[in-house]
Amino acid sequence: MAGANSLYARDASAIAGLQKLRFFPLALESGAGAYVVDDEGRRLLDLSAAWGAASLGYGHPAIVEAVCHAVSAPAGASILSATHRGAVELAEAILVTLPELPDHCVWFGHSGSDANETAFRAIAAATGRRRVIAFRGAYHGGTAGSMAISGHAVQSHAARAEGLTLISYPNPYHGEDGEAVLAGLAQQFETTLPPQEVGALFIEPIQSDGGFIVPPPGFLKRLVEMCRAHGILIVSDEVKVGLARTGLMHCFRHEGFTPDFVCLGKGLGGGMAISALVGPRAIMNHATAFAMQTLHGNPVSVAAATAVLKTIEDEKLAGNASTVGRFLLDGLTALKSRHRMVGDVRGRGLAIGIELLTEDPAGRRAAKTVFRAWELGLVLYYVGINSNVLELTPPLILTEAQASDAIAILDRAIADVEQGLVSDDAIRDFAGW
Ligand SMILES: Cc1ncc(COP(=O)(O)O)c(C=O)c1O
Repeated sequence: MAGANSLYARDASAIAGLQKLRFFPLALESGAGAYVVDDEGRRLLDLSAAWGAASLGYGHPAIVEAVCHAVSAPAGASILSATHRGAVELAEAILVTLPELPDHCVWFGHSGSDANETAFRAIAAATGRRRVIAFRGAYHGGTAGSMAISGHAVQSHAARAEGLTLISYPNPYHGEDGEAVLAGLAQQFETTLPPQEVGALFIEPIQSDGGFIVPPPGFLKRLVEMCRAHGILIVSDEVKVGLARTGLMHCFRHEGFTPDFVCLGKGLGGGMAISALVGPRAIMNHATAFAMQTLHGNPVSVAAATAVLKTIEDEKLAGNASTVGRFLLDGLTALKSRHRMVGDVRGRGLAIGIELLTEDPAGRRAAKTVFRAWELGLVLYYVGINSNVLELTPPLILTEAQASDAIAILDRAIADVEQGLVSDDAIRDFAGW
């Protein structure tokens, strides 16, 4: 636990709270595979993978080699005013994963936020259609432009886009099949929301930060069809759940629709800062000098992303996510019968959410559970506009043995919370979200 001169205490005075989302006093020195090591030498199994960014775990040899090579003789530092082989080849490699989008090209950014913001701005500029539809609970990023099209409670301070319409993301666990959402939107199209003014529909194919909701079967497909009929472009935000995490390379494929734009981030860089937006050339080439930051497409981040894509193929990580994910999901589902506070366990592959019952909101059950799990050697966080869904997005290299350990620790952490062993005091300093 953090003492007065500990790394965590020094962080408190040296680093701004504005960018903190803390659940327990985790201070890290290093990482290896699916584990992180804290400043006291304690090894913890990381079921978050830094919110999905560490897709290959920590220190994967393919990333180490690629990054070391790129940084030792870098082909410039940017793609703004010169191209380089690595960037072109990464763009080509990303397009190979999306044969259903043949007339597309790639924009590179630093984060999921800038990729979503660029999609929003480019679609509005190129089509002249300034309205946009997104979901209540959606988290598309932390920049002004990506917050403008989000609907997450943590960003209630943010200015939303003037033409933003938020619709509900149906949660099957709450008995919602999506019919009401579809009927409501159809009615809006006929009355207050002229569909010919709507440029884009932003979709998370699993709504992650809003509560890890897997949509009802067929819902997104029908929504997409309804919007397409009016020429509305479809953006699939795959920043958290894309790139093999759900057992398929791209998550939209589970839902039977093909988007016009795909946003990739987090796991694309395996811990390095890089994102990618794939979109139709007509819009992506609408203007030049329109969405750029100096270090976009830098050779080091590009090399890491190329290594990630290759390793996903070489090590068959989509298959691993599917198999180990099923094992984890089954093991966690079994906890439902033993713990009254576990409401629902859902997910695809290694993208899993555990919704805790909220009849005692003041108790902050999710906050206490992740805190206790951390004490027991497991890192995971919670999400949800009601702050009650545990989120598991472990490295894609997770093994069944590690998944077993994780289930055992969570079993105990939940039991301890149910028995009142985690006090309100213990989590007082950790606001979470
Ligand atoms: C679905 C989704 N989109 C976009 C983002 C923003 O990504 P970043 O924080 O890397 O900018 C996130 C981050 O949580 C996300 O989950």
